[in-house]
Amino acid sequence: MTAARTKRMPLRCQLVTPGASVKMIEKAAALRCDGLVLDLEDSVTPAMKPAARDVVRQALQGTDFGETEVAVRVNAVGTAWFGEDVAALQDADIDALVLSKAETARDVHVADYFLERMECRRGQGIALYLLIESGAALERISDLIDISPRCAGVIFGAADFAASTGVAFNARGLAYARSRLSAAAAAAGIQALDQVHPKIDDDAGLEVEARHAREIGYTGKWAIHPRQVEIIAKVFSPTPEEIEEAHRILRLNDAMLGAGRGAVAEDGMLVDEAVVKIMRRRLAAVAGPAKGELP
Ligand code: GLV
Ligand code: MG
Repeated sequence: MTAARTKRMPLRCQLVTPGASVKMIEKAAALRCDGLVLDLEDSVTPAMKPAARDVVRQALQGTDFGETEVAVRVNAVGTAWFGEDVAALQDADIDALVLSKAETARDVHVADYFLERMECRRGQGIALYLLIESGAALERISDLIDISPRCAGVIFGAADFAASTGVAFNARGLAYARSRLSAAAAAAGIQALDQVHPKIDDDAGLEVEARHAREIGYTGKWAIHPRQVEIIAKVFSPTPEEIEEAHRILRLNDAMLGAGRGAVAEDGMLVDEAVVKIMRRRLAAVAGPAKGELP
């Protein structure tokens, strides 16, 4: 079995929650956000990792996550923890795995190998998300994506990217990498999930950052706190005005084709095949995340 199983696609928001905290996992599950990532990596100290694996395993058995796509973020392949992380997940009911600091072809092959074994036991596909956090990973992004048919998306790990490359951890410093990643995801027809916004109580800043991400092709964004989820989901959902505009342009397109014309100006704006495709893509996101392919 190889096809990536994504419960919902695209995910407008994936909420990351520390794997060591039962309370936080329960709270996150109750939110019914599009996607949830139970974290075994940087939000868990080395001393707490064994306990966090137990908490995550129990949560996966006993929690009602509804339609939320549930992923676990494991430590990077080259770390002392990766092997025990994947061993703890062998029989777990997860929808996806997030591979932190995915950087080399070997990293992705190793993760893919473990997913294949897990799928054989379960008889169900598991999606893979690559967390891109270094210049080397960015340079070979399309090759990394191509390795695994399970790869359902890439996530921009901006904090570690800034830490490992020396670029500033702000919109200007990260601009090139952020756009490069979303373009590679679009080329592969997979999801692109934008970076974390580390200022938890900065709702306005979060909204600006999420809008920017949507404009440069991201299909969703990570949240690190429940209060960020609704803001992000709203930004990645078309507004009533955007929906109305899309319907109007599609009606105009039908009329245009009926009259044998390829392009017209509407309100001073050119409507042609490309604009029509943009509107169709927008409408495909209206129903919210659903099973299936990206538009
Ligand atoms: C996420 O892991 C990041 O480094 O931003
Ligand atoms: Mg990181």
